[in-house]
Amino acid sequence: MKLAIMGAMPEEIEPLLEFFGGYETVVYASNKYYKVNYKGTDIVIAYSKIGKVNSTITASVMIQKFGCEKLLFSGVAGAVCDTLKVGDLVVATKLAQHDLDISAFGHPYGYVPEGSVFEEADKGLIEIAKEVAKEKGIDLKDGIIVTGDQFVCDVERKNWIAKTFEASALEMEGASVAVTCNALGVPFFILRAISDAADMDASFSFDEFLETSAKVSADFVIRMVDKIIDA
Ligand code: ADE
Repeated sequence: MKLAIMGAMPEEIEPLLEFFGGYETVVYASNKYYKVNYKGTDIVIAYSKIGKVNSTITASVMIQKFGCEKLLFSGVAGAVCDTLKVGDLVVATKLAQHDLDISAFGHPYGYVPEGSVFEEADKGLIEIAKEVAKEKGIDLKDGIIVTGDQFVCDVERKNWIAKTFEASALEMEGASVAVTCNALGVPFFILRAISDAADMDASFSFDEFLETSAKVSADFVIRMVDKIIDA
């Protein structure tokens, strides 16, 4: 089995590279892919750069060029519900693109013909995450995570997104990775630690908590990798 672990920004994969160490770097399609062998399992690690297009490219390269058979995403997100605070971990049950809008033609937000508003994450991987959380006494929340090509720092936009998609958190890559993995038949898992509340203070909060929250998420993913390999 070959595993993919991706983030969007350098800070989101640095803790992983530090933990796994001894990687080989492969440059492909304007990005760097870090190959390691951990306990006999090949793992490919990469950060995509921010946004839906970049994350789509990286996820498809990991699957189609490197042959990864499961994909784990680790990173940070803005909270759009009151129950999530900075540093909290949330796993996506399903994901949608909040900025995909052909409502002018009577379609729901996030929908295009022959697609669907929500992409479901792999239930088996979510179950493994819940086991890890239970064993380690970690408070792991789950919910709908939505994605768009915008950093949301506006309460009105945030509240609209939360209500329209019943979302818990938002970010800029999860749903595009989800579409890619589901199209290619690869089980995926999206984990985020909260860095901000997508409000007027979001950019300051993001800058302050990016590194610590990214590490919270990466540390959890490392524990999941152990569990996946041991299974
Ligand atoms: N990732 C983390 N915080 C975010 C926000 N407020 N908007 C979009 N992506 C984010």
